[in-house]
Amino acid sequence: MRAWSVLVTGANGEIGHGLITRLAQAGRSIVTIDIVPLEPALSRLVRREFVGSITDVRLLERILAEFEIDLVFHLAALLSTRSEFTPVTAHEVNVEGTLCLLEFAHHEGESHGRPVVFLYPSSIAAYGLPDLETKMRAKRVREDEWNTPTTMYGCNKLYCEHLGRYYARHYKQLAADTTAGRVDFRCVRFPGLISALTTPSGGTSDYAPEMIHAAAKGEPYACFVRPDTRIPFMAMPDAIDALQLLASVPRERLTRTAYNLTAFSPAASDIGDTVGRAFPHATITFEVDQKRQRIVDSWPAEVDDTAARRDWGFAPRYDFSRAFDEYLIPTIRERYLA
Ligand code: SER
Repeated sequence: MRAWSVLVTGANGEIGHGLITRLAQAGRSIVTIDIVPLEPALSRLVRREFVGSITDVRLLERILAEFEIDLVFHLAALLSTRSEFTPVTAHEVNVEGTLCLLEFAHHEGESHGRPVVFLYPSSIAAYGLPDLETKMRAKRVREDEWNTPTTMYGCNKLYCEHLGRYYARHYKQLAADTTAGRVDFRCVRFPGLISALTTPSGGTSDYAPEMIHAAAKGEPYACFVRPDTRIPFMAMPDAIDALQLLASVPRERLTRTAYNLTAFSPAASDIGDTVGRAFPHATITFEVDQKRQRIVDSWPAEVDDTAARRDWGFAPRYDFSRAFDEYLIPTIRERYLA
């Protein structure tokens, strides 16, 4: 019998942490790529760890030769704030890197004859509302609305959704033997993610996780957006559940390439108040960075996730209160006490 493996890129990142643990619990053989070595606790869970770039075609060829991959979680990316400082590097990693991975998946599918399920986390950054007034009027934004991102990262994500759709359905459509369908591309548009175990770096939704982790560590925090700022968020365990669920659902149930996901849409002040109640010594202030604020103001306050719920049964376990009371606060407390 074939030993199928799952490939995780950006494995050492926020989503990678939770995902690798879950895949290992499910007994999967895991191969990883990250530009930095995995933390030892994660490293122990994987069959093979490659330290290198996703744009290194030689490295991908080696993986192709050594492993039979039937599932890819392509998590590696430069987030939205960082990408604004280095847009060309962002394009290299976020777009050219994704193109390399799609080619890799296509060739894997060709070599072992089974479509490679390719999970791609896109983002609310794929949206771009022109101003705050439009954002407040927009209500729950559907997947096909406001696809005019203002950030390099958002443009990269939206384009890669299309690249994935191209590989899945139209790849080399003029060739004599058309070979589309080797890649079974599936994509979610994540809201801001909040993990109790890690803090993100280089994102613009980072104010939420940063506020919580700073309070737990007893450090003051100056939130870089206005108290009334509202975007959707989700607790990390729900994000991992969603990726795994979408990976396992029969292809014929899917009616879209990219699915909105959401769990709760608190104002920044709601997060601050809840954190302040849990950690009474927390010092949270608001010092607005107008430029980062503009980015968050271009993202929807709420998204419509009806398609994900209908097509593949997405149903987050954590609403705002449960996320804080049952996941974030107890886990973070324990983490910093340890
Ligand atoms: N969390 C991401 C960022 O802030 C958005 O998907 O860049």
